[in-house]
Amino acid sequence: MQGWRSVAACGLVLGAAFWVTSAAAAEADGKAMFIDSCTQCHQTPGVENAGNIGPVLSDMKERFPDRSQLAAIIDDESKRNPQTVMPPFGRNLIRTKQQIDTIIDFLYAR
Ligand code: HEC
Repeated sequence: MQGWRSVAACGLVLGAAFWVTSAAAAEADGKAMFIDSCTQCHQTPGVENAGNIGPVLSDMKERFPDRSQLAAIIDDESKRNPQTVMPPFGRNLIRTKQQIDTIIDFLYAR
């Protein structure tokens, strides 16, 4: 019985370690995509050397509590502002829905 208990404990530790590592990997993915697609125009806390064509993206959770509103802007900002220079990342398939989701997770931590 003792053996099973340590196997279960070991599983828990591994599970927790996996959860922490995958959360860190998602954060790194979000940052990489942000640097690739967004820093030409947007600054955000924790990212160096970004442009300022668009507004600074900080306090995102407070400013955009509705996740779908933020997703809509990244999907196609021209729906809100037909004159925008921001590329329609979702509509033009520059980023998948899942990638946009990962970028939003990254932004929600800024
Ligand atoms: C070519 C420049 C450019 C790029 C690249 C760009 N944006 Fe934008 N973005 C803008 C501009 C300019 C605005 C200001 C609003 C408008 O033009 O309608 C904006 C607005 C926004 C807003 C609304 C901010 C607010 O405070 O109202 C968000 C959120 C946003 N962008 C996210 C992103 C994300 C995420 C990416 C990368 C996937 C990105 N943008 C890439 C130019 C850009």
